[in-house]
Amino acid sequence: MYRVGSLQGERSRLLARGVSVTRVTPGQLRQMKERGERIPVLTAYDYSMARLLDEAGVPVLLVGDSMGMVVLGHDSTIPVTLEDVIRATAAVRRGARRALVVADLPFMTYRVSDEEALRNAARLVQEGGAHAVKLEGGRSVAPLVRRLVDSGIPVMGHLGFTPQSILQLGGVRVQGRARAAAADLLHDARALDEAGVFALVLELVPTPLAGLISRHIAAPTIGIGAGPECDGEVQVVHDILGLYPDFVPRHTRQYARLGDTISAAVREYVADVQQRRFPTREHAADMDPTLLEGLE
Ligand code: KIV
Repeated sequence: MYRVGSLQGERSRLLARGVSVTRVTPGQLRQMKERGERIPVLTAYDYSMARLLDEAGVPVLLVGDSMGMVVLGHDSTIPVTLEDVIRATAAVRRGARRALVVADLPFMTYRVSDEEALRNAARLVQEGGAHAVKLEGGRSVAPLVRRLVDSGIPVMGHLGFTPQSILQLGGVRVQGRARAAAADLLHDARALDEAGVFALVLELVPTPLAGLISRHIAAPTIGIGAGPECDGEVQVVHDILGLYPDFVPRHTRQYARLGDTISAAVREYVADVQQRRFPTREHAADMDPTLLEGLE
């Protein structure tokens, strides 16, 4: 269970060391849009990565159900459970001192009934420590978004290619290319904006449509494969760091090839252990060997 006391303890320790910590808020993201400041978002699924990303200045960390592929090795987000996301969110919260932590509501955790959705979102907040939740869908989920927001849970929307509908959509495809589909997406975006989302992910949406939506809603749009006209960008951290071995999506840019770095380092480790170059005496405690005399 997430404990406020332990966070306060961490906060007072940091304050005592003169480190000031102010958490990014959903309201600040809207202000960033108004000021024309772009919003970088990355996914995170564990403590160590969350610390690195937070310290590097990423203002929003998304505990995405993309963990289904990049962490758990599934071929879609569908098998991801609420428990998977709660546990990962709690780890990310422990690593994120400044970033706003948004947790994905997984497949079917918000579609059975609004009551169940509210309970599940509350678990992400109470047990995982999420500052906000994300869910997929347009007008059909707008009333639920309103209820969550009215209950004090900030919501990030997700339109365009919505990975939880992959069975319905028949594969990973750009959405909203035809005029009617584009108009539909615009209506969905407006409905979510009116329902109170604090930000809206647009995934695999053509650039001009993403730009149009961004100009027509108050909430910042966060694109992924949606071009440069969104108010921010989200990427799966494994993609930009070259950590996912299966494929590199077209919409990403690799800023590092950590997969290659890891393989080389691990090969060296294996050889060092096999060739008795590691560990050496300096990697363990010593003692007076005479104390062992007669023990054999
Ligand atoms: O699960 C996820 O990582 C996401 C982003 C790709 C937007 O939903």
